[in-house]
Amino acid sequence: MPYAEFDDTRLHIRQLGGGPVALFIHGFPLDSTMWIDQLSALSETRRCIAVDLRGFGRSAPVNGETLTMERHAADLAGVLDLISVETADVVGLSMGGYVALAFAEMYPERLRTLALIDTRAEPDSPEAKQGREAMAERVVTEGRAAIAEGMQQALLGPKASLAAKARLRTMIEGCPHETIVGALLGMRDRPGRSHVLGSIEVPSAVVVGEHDTVTTPDSAAEMADALPDAVLVTIPDAGHLTPIEQPQAVNAALRDLFGRT
Ligand code: MLT
Repeated sequence: MPYAEFDDTRLHIRQLGGGPVALFIHGFPLDSTMWIDQLSALSETRRCIAVDLRGFGRSAPVNGETLTMERHAADLAGVLDLISVETADVVGLSMGGYVALAFAEMYPERLRTLALIDTRAEPDSPEAKQGREAMAERVVTEGRAAIAEGMQQALLGPKASLAAKARLRTMIEGCPHETIVGALLGMRDRPGRSHVLGSIEVPSAVVVGEHDTVTTPDSAAEMADALPDAVLVTIPDAGHLTPIEQPQAVNAALRDLFGRT
């Protein structure tokens, strides 16, 4: 099933393996290709499903709508419904983690495990909200290349390989302008979900790159403390995009998590 068809959109799905479903949710402004190393390694024990969120990757285009975390979470529940699957190991990176927390709040009974990778539960500060709006303006006036350089600096650790840099650049430059704007406004408007953490009863993992400056190791530790059954994993030699920068270490953390059920 390369596509999940809905009344109002079509989502592209990358799928590998068999067994219980693991659902991978990408960050911003990325797409399902960020998970290819996880899909190939974890397909031994899981039916790995990485969805291109609404407007991203090879999913149908959007037209300027605000892409809320709740909209994406409902889409993912719709994907599980289409394949008649009730529960999943939900894995989200950064914006994908915001979506995973929305999913956990909206559909707690559908979680088997939860992996929050380089993400946070707090909402944007007033300054961060202004930064989102400024970035949306900049993309529209100057184009994606104008933000790509800064994002590479911010998202990747100092030792990131050329291959990791190339992959990030391809994803950023492949993301439609409408999607970038819709996602920035959706992230700006997202509510904090720290209150959700204490209610997550399934095994969870908080994974963070040791050099992540976007969602720092300190805030990851706080999030792990707030989760009732969490393991905190700090990934050496990585920034904010640990699944791309250090795939084997992230795969090991996910294998451990999946083994706890
Ligand atoms: C991401 O990687 O998804 C973004 O850095 C999230 C954000 O901008 O808050």
